[in-house]
Amino acid sequence: SDIDKGTYPHYMLKEIDEQPAVMRKIIQAYQGEDEKLTIQPEILDALQEADRLYIIAAGTSYHAGLIGKEYLEKMAGIPVEVHVASEFGYNMPLLSEKPLFIFISQSGETADSRQVLVRIKELGHPSLTITNVAGSTLSREADHTLLLYAGPEIAVASTKAYTAQLAVLAILAAVTAEARGRDLGFDLVQEMGIVANAIQAQVDMKEEIEKLAHDFLSTTRNCFFIGRLMDYFVGLEGALKLKEISYIQAEGFAGGELKHGTIALIEEGTPVIALATQESVNLNIRGNVKEVAARGANTMIISMEGLSEDGDSHVLPTVHELLTPLVSVIPLQLISYYAALHRDCDVDKPRNLAKSVTVE
Ligand code: AGP
Repeated sequence: SDIDKGTYPHYMLKEIDEQPAVMRKIIQAYQGEDEKLTIQPEILDALQEADRLYIIAAGTSYHAGLIGKEYLEKMAGIPVEVHVASEFGYNMPLLSEKPLFIFISQSGETADSRQVLVRIKELGHPSLTITNVAGSTLSREADHTLLLYAGPEIAVASTKAYTAQLAVLAILAAVTAEARGRDLGFDLVQEMGIVANAIQAQVDMKEEIEKLAHDFLSTTRNCFFIGRLMDYFVGLEGALKLKEISYIQAEGFAGGELKHGTIALIEEGTPVIALATQESVNLNIRGNVKEVAARGANTMIISMEGLSEDGDSHVLPTVHELLTPLVSVIPLQLISYYAALHRDCDVDKPRNLAKSVTVE
């Protein structure tokens, strides 16, 4: 590639490290003259006119969409559905009267998403693409585009594009909320600054996080991620990251679902990584950790200051509760990176995978 790794051994590590700078870049890019966050009026109009938003995406971008739904519903008050592009393409649900389609794609070239865009355009529905690549197919073919400003992402495993997607979705939700006269009760620019610092603190803790990866994952064949609410969605992303680059079989689950089946898989030493950043379910997820620990699981708890307990494996600095995914995903990215490195896997180019999936 013509993008230099510099002193980094892998693009993935470089891209993980770039995330604080990407956060600052995004804030700047979306600030208007008066430093207030702004979105093009045509896009705000499109959101205002819609009675329901349909987020379409694949892989990591789909996981960002799950969090995007939380942002757009909780901040802007617009109902949202999130769909896997390859499923939606063949089984379109009943649509609302005034849908707006939002395509989330790092590359802007994912064939499964492109097919959906072609279909919904035929039906006459409006569309917005959120992408890292200006001039990409999904950007050119949609009515509107919002850019991620993450800089080129080379590693197959998506890292900075995911956090950039979350940041842009938060900005879109906050600015739409304002346009609709809804009071958020917090200043997103200020909270995003706190997030950028918290991400920096995480990438500065590589040695500690590498040790966690070593202690929990060096010999395992499988690993489970559990969480509730947004922590569940971040767990899905953590599991995808781990399986794609380290080839450890990994799955993410909603903590409360364990007893409905998955807990049967827990054996002596099975690694279970739990996220605990959501106050309203902190006791619940900790209960779930006790349930798996009682069956022999090797548990790692990643919690947030203010919700942490003695003995937690890793404690994140406090950020606004809606923005926790931007920070909690960082140790998961690094754990995957080091797990893959310890197994001598090809971190930047995992087997069987392409950076963007341009065929169906
Ligand atoms: C992420 O680590 C994966 N490599 C993959 O899931 C990716 O997110 C997916 O293929 C979607 O790509 P896109 O964002 O470019 O559309």
